[in-house]
Amino acid sequence: MCGIFAYLGEKTNAGELILQGLTSLEYRGYDSWGVAIKKENSKLHVEKHPGKIGEATFPPFTASSGIGHTRWATHGGVTAANAHPHVSCNDEVVLVHNGIVENFEELKQNLQKAGHHFKSETDSEVIAHLLEEEMKNETDLKEVVLRVFRMLTGMSAIIVFFPGTNQFFAIKNGSPLVYSGTQSEQILASDAVALIPYTNNVFFLPDYELLEMNPHGARLYDETGTEKSLKTVTLEIDKSQVEKGAFAHFMIKEIHEQAAIVKQLTKKTDQIQNLATAIQKSNRFYFVGCGSAYYAALCGEYLFSKIAKIHANSSFGSEFSYHLDFIDNTSTVMAVSQSGETIDIISGLQKAREKGAHIMALVNVLGSTLYRTADSSFLLGAGPEKAVCSTKAFVAQITAIFLLAHTMAHTVDKGTKDLFNAAREITSILEREKSIQELAEKIVKSKNIFVLGRGISYPGALESALKIKEVCYIHAEGFAGGELKHGVIALIEKGTPVIIYNPEDETYEDSLSSAYEVKARGAYVIGISSKPNPVFDAYIEVKNCGEATIIPNVVIAQLLGYYLALAKNLDPDKPRNLAKSVTVK
Ligand code: F6R
Repeated sequence: MCGIFAYLGEKTNAGELILQGLTSLEYRGYDSWGVAIKKENSKLHVEKHPGKIGEATFPPFTASSGIGHTRWATHGGVTAANAHPHVSCNDEVVLVHNGIVENFEELKQNLQKAGHHFKSETDSEVIAHLLEEEMKNETDLKEVVLRVFRMLTGMSAIIVFFPGTNQFFAIKNGSPLVYSGTQSEQILASDAVALIPYTNNVFFLPDYELLEMNPHGARLYDETGTEKSLKTVTLEIDKSQVEKGAFAHFMIKEIHEQAAIVKQLTKKTDQIQNLATAIQKSNRFYFVGCGSAYYAALCGEYLFSKIAKIHANSSFGSEFSYHLDFIDNTSTVMAVSQSGETIDIISGLQKAREKGAHIMALVNVLGSTLYRTADSSFLLGAGPEKAVCSTKAFVAQITAIFLLAHTMAHTVDKGTKDLFNAAREITSILEREKSIQELAEKIVKSKNIFVLGRGISYPGALESALKIKEVCYIHAEGFAGGELKHGVIALIEKGTPVIIYNPEDETYEDSLSSAYEVKARGAYVIGISSKPNPVFDAYIEVKNCGEATIIPNVVIAQLLGYYLALAKNLDPDKPRNLAKSVTVK
């Protein structure tokens, strides 16, 4: 969701650098943007615009400090006035905010009574005015920020820029803030990805601690204002991972990275063994995720049961709080999340923790909230995922869960062999990418696309439909094949594309029957199987890799979604209305 980038350093084109920083965060999804810089020997300059940064350039002012923000609207529409930064009445406080100030209405009324004039409809703007108000009573700016932050309810991350003294203060109790400092420049951002072009040594700000960044360096304080030491970590990410390179879009680049990610994960068996040991000590096991990560969790239910003979329940993050009755201190709850910041998961997990459950996190982002706060964390290591829709993180999640199931079953060798076969099949599908592009061009005018699967191919069908609809806006639905006759079949019309997952497992014959049933109603049947069949109008071969066949199968839907988006002239990296990391409820 919202992105933040603040710069303080020797370079004199701060406006341009901040725009570049914000561009590197565009993948998070946003609908307006703004930048405030302190012009040399002059006043503050603020630019705010609805829409995307696009080809925008920054006026060539000489400036060595400033702050920018990309906003994903919650309180107040998409307008220039509602975009951040927000500036206090006296122009001395510049503020950017991620999150929600739940008590903003009450705070705003009091501030208005005290004579403050509001320029936006946002909850965030109250913070700038509160800071100005508090500065009337307190000269120590760190005290001012700490006091104001205590007045806010809800989860927030703020960076305050005092242009008069060139000081920045960052504090949070939710979404991440990351700092990096070299001899010549310092940066504060909402996402480590924005820091990679500068340095790999970063500091993830813990909740309620205050970071001050000024021209002499950075200082860290605890919530009482006592100074403490600041220890950086080194990110194992190189610049090529945050750039598109030779690919047209991040989505296709990330699809192409998947075979290597699957193989790489098979080397992490020691860390997976630690998770297995903790799970085997517990009485009940739950997976929790949202969107694609939820579908990976649902795959986990099938894999745990079939391979490890362990019962697992999976829940959407947003529904998990309604399932808490059976959670106790003998339960383990595993959060499955690319970003590690999804608020629906975090809030559900907080309640499970209060009931004594062991919390595990399967995440892709080092330093993320779930990574830091879980009792045991596993880093997927898929590298930064910059397309809004999840591809490689989903594949990494299934791969890790698959290995976990085999670890608990003491069949890691068999699991590893299946995964290597799955990686080989991904490569083989990518060699046939052109045929999937042609298929996309053939079905691009369809109003609906359906995907059918049974067993583990059912969550695979759900994920495939999500991948298609979110990037090309064609209505797509995944169904359990056995549900056809219970209503779904009413949706089939002449020419409706129906993708049938037909792997060589216990679902083979029944899935084939579903293919015949939809074909009899005029469907255009796209069969994904190791064996061709006359019922298929289009056939995509995927060789059998045991339960791991789900992985290459889903890659086909990723490619189909990508090429459908291209056929409709849409940008697959930035689907409308979607944000990469969903940090508000
Ligand atoms: C779909 C997609 C979303 C995310 C979901 C969870 O392509 O990207 O459905 O999977 O928002 O996000 P994380 O995994 O960051 O918790």
